[in-house]
Amino acid sequence: MLVLGIETSCDETGIALYCTTRGLLAHALYSQITMHQDYGGVVPELASRDHIQRLIPLTQQVLDQANCRKQDVDAIAYTAGPGLIGALLTGASFARTLAYAWHKPAIGVHHLEGHLLAPMLEANAPKPPYVALLVSGGHSMLIEVRAIGSYALLGETLDDAAGEAFDKTAQLLGLGYPGGPALAALAEHGNPSTYRFSRPLVDRPGLDFSFSGLKTQVMLAYKKLEKANAKPSDQQRADLARGFEDAITDTLAIKCKRALQQCELSTLVVAGGVGANQRLRAKLQDRAGMGAIDVHFPRIAFCTDNGAMIALAGALRLAAGQRQGLAIDATPRWELASLTSINSLPPATQLASTLPNQSPT
Ligand code: KG4
Ligand code: ZN
Repeated sequence: MLVLGIETSCDETGIALYCTTRGLLAHALYSQITMHQDYGGVVPELASRDHIQRLIPLTQQVLDQANCRKQDVDAIAYTAGPGLIGALLTGASFARTLAYAWHKPAIGVHHLEGHLLAPMLEANAPKPPYVALLVSGGHSMLIEVRAIGSYALLGETLDDAAGEAFDKTAQLLGLGYPGGPALAALAEHGNPSTYRFSRPLVDRPGLDFSFSGLKTQVMLAYKKLEKANAKPSDQQRADLARGFEDAITDTLAIKCKRALQQCELSTLVVAGGVGANQRLRAKLQDRAGMGAIDVHFPRIAFCTDNGAMIALAGALRLAAGQRQGLAIDATPRWELASLTSINSLPPATQLASTLPNQSPT
């Protein structure tokens, strides 16, 4: 089955072609980062307008790259939520219209399910059950993946998401948007022993995270330097970046180890934009710290939003028989735990929609 995947939940237009027998055939991504940079974050209206311009040329590009014709496509998968509603609707409308015109099925995919399954695009794909750490600009979650579509939330952030904490701290240090990669690059020049910020909530039981206090600690340290020097030096900023990055990555690693022990599992999957962080990757792969576990990451390009993970997640659901009606549906909020396990789908299930009731946000 050849599935066209369409991702438009935020500021990246991602298109891909995934074949259930041959794997990923082609993918293309247009990032709107430069457009939103002047505003220090994503402007939803601008994001929607840009997606609509990119969708058709990128789809053609991917078909050409894979040497496929439109009649070779068996089904279409698109991100139906959660995300920015205007941005989601551009992808949903395009996907459903294509499906209607081509007489093919289409399926709305949960964006986070896409992230959770992204490591399956790699050789040596992980098999459930496993624990997944999902760390992006909007989410920090530990999830027990019992089967595809069966997700139990083990812990989540009580305030800022990990990526959000990276972005806000980067802004404080005078770095651009998105801040994660820029902060990580600055931290490379930092001295690891200058600052030791706290590892939030590690001394209490449980698997929740809280990163806003850590961000405040960096801010207070920065203000102290400002008082003394007027403007902190490049080395001082790098030391702060290193202290922050060490604290956040240590915290994530400690909670991952605890989650694996709690679930009695030894496979860990890391997903979402912060999964691109090299220091986090190194800590999770360190046997001395983590024990003998099996860790899977998507390639760097598939840590952040992309069409390939949506094509894959849609293909798995379509192959299991899930079908949806013709309505164009998208939702900004959608609980991951409300998804149906693909193991429990009767063959050729006709679901009017897997989405919850629509409510304006
Ligand atoms: O998954 P993603 O593309 O979008 C969301 O669905 O949120 O994640 C984007 C987030 C941003 O906050 C960005 O700063 C962060 O991932 N990020 C990183 C790195 N690369 C991206 N954070 C830390 N280190 C990185 N190398
Ligand atoms: Zn995402």
